[in-house]
Amino acid sequence: MDPIRRQRVLFLYYTYTHQTQRVAEAMADVLRERGCEVRQAAIEFTDRRYATRFSRFPLPFLRLVGMLPPQLRRESGEIRVPDEVRDGEYDLVCVGSPTWWLTACMPIRSFLKSPEAGPLLHGRRFTAFVVCRRYWRGSMRTVKRLGTGHGGSWVDGIHFKFLGGQVRSLLSLLSYLGKGEMRERYLGVKIPPTNLQPDHLEAARAFATDLADSLGPPRHVEGRPSLGAESSEDEGAERQPQHVRGNGT
Ligand SMILES: Cc1cc2nc3c(=O)[nH]c(=O)nc-3n(C[C@H](O)[C@H](O)[C@H](O)COP(=O)(O)O)c2cc1C
Repeated sequence: MDPIRRQRVLFLYYTYTHQTQRVAEAMADVLRERGCEVRQAAIEFTDRRYATRFSRFPLPFLRLVGMLPPQLRRESGEIRVPDEVRDGEYDLVCVGSPTWWLTACMPIRSFLKSPEAGPLLHGRRFTAFVVCRRYWRGSMRTVKRLGTGHGGSWVDGIHFKFLGGQVRSLLSLLSYLGKGEMRERYLGVKIPPTNLQPDHLEAARAFATDLADSLGPPRHVEGRPSLGAESSEDEGAERQPQHVRGNGT
């Protein structure tokens, strides 16, 4: 019988406060249950100008604001790209792109502008999931534009916004990033919880189910060795600590 090749899916993301990682893991679980071979690649932000501030938590206000000028200039920085990115061809690449100052965070932009992005994305389907307080469009648009620029085939992505309106969601985020924990009040104002809520993760799983449907069943590949069909490598993949559809416009 011909060998069976499972659909290969890569989750490539950057995460600082682990919300993007939570979405990646929820989606990865669904795709694994659906028989895909799933890999995760968390980009490391190694740039000596900025790495120290993102290696610690909480993030003092001035350090948060200090990222505004380089983000406005759409700067790139040094990153480390995990080996999974170079490990063969993927049928689908899911890019987890947190918003920093209205656009994709520097580590994701840096990857998408790196020489590694072309070989990964060229001729491949890719999508994005954006986690943010409120402003997802700039981040989604950046991933779509840079990815299609490498010859990738865009699949509409999904975004996740935190609770609260303009002011209260901002106060919640500032409180959390500055204090390192969620509080009920900030500057005397009652604030909603920040970060992902359970229904966000439900939406992530539903999105992953649709992606799995679009990938279809494992393929029979004539004369080609099975790529991990009997391997449990991805099932034992390293676990790290721990909704709305968008068209990327
Ligand atoms: C430096 C920085 C800048 C941010 N700027 C924005 C922003 O402009 N708009 C927004 O909606 N969220 C903004 N956020 C909130 C993040 O998108 C949010 O914290 C998200 O959870 C980050 O993903 P992560 O938890 O995977 O690191 C910012 C966060 C940081 C750390």
